[in-house]
Amino acid sequence: YSYESIESIIKFILSRTSQRPEIGIICGTGMGGLADILYEKESFPYKEIPDFPVSTVPGHLGFLVFGKLNGTQVICMQGRFHVYEGYSVWKCVMPIRVMKLIGVRVLIITNAAGSVNQNFSVGDIMLIKDHINFSGLGSNNPLRGKNDDRWGPRFSPMSDAYDLRLRQLVRTIAKKLDLDKYLKEGVYCMIGGPSYETVSEIQLLKLLGADAVGMSTAHEVIAARHCAIRVIGISLITNSCVMKHDSEEMPANHEEVMEVGNLHKKDLEKLVTEIIMNIDTV
Ligand code: 6GU
Repeated sequence: YSYESIESIIKFILSRTSQRPEIGIICGTGMGGLADILYEKESFPYKEIPDFPVSTVPGHLGFLVFGKLNGTQVICMQGRFHVYEGYSVWKCVMPIRVMKLIGVRVLIITNAAGSVNQNFSVGDIMLIKDHINFSGLGSNNPLRGKNDDRWGPRFSPMSDAYDLRLRQLVRTIAKKLDLDKYLKEGVYCMIGGPSYETVSEIQLLKLLGADAVGMSTAHEVIAARHCAIRVIGISLITNSCVMKHDSEEMPANHEEVMEVGNLHKKDLEKLVTEIIMNIDTV
């Protein structure tokens, strides 16, 4: 996708809506309900947007949704793209650049994740303070290839990827909503999937300092930071990873992930709504 091809996609979209949101949301597995609570909604099915990939995963619808939450305009990806679907990583992040040209300045990225940290419980909300991009450390980085300086620099720093001020805002809001007992903060590790991790792999990720593991987010954050979008990352802990060999615990499964997502989506909706009302995008 050249800069010009993204420009022509946003021309298509912006000629069909008058909304100009500065806040973007990516809905994780089972969290598509976030887009349903918007009003003055204008939805674009991915398959009707020229050159857009389509989502293929249950729990991920395929809509780009414009609308308002308590008076604030937002744009929501109801359904994201994963590398395990067969898309190359640069293709998975193209909607981030679409959002950039629409005018998005802050992106709230949500996901469902398994807990590696044994102090976390199912249903906890983990504010992401950093990530480990497992396959990106090899060479599967979304910024690989020729750089276009109109997006950002060739070498993009990531040490401040998860905006400190925005994290402080989320902590304050969680306290105000009495959700702070569920709010954890930690490191998200992205693996390629679609198979879940073996017990030894989870032990490895724990050694590396991961608190939660999932199959998304890190590549999106890299693309967002490259083009100077500020990021909030939120994981809903939907299952705890099996940490011991010979354990009789239930293995991770997608049904459980979606079910827990559904159970806790009200809390997440409250949190995200309140965050949106309190972000200043300048
Ligand atoms: Cl346990 N692992 C991965 N990789 N992704 C997940 C998950 C686990 N739980 C939800 N998403």
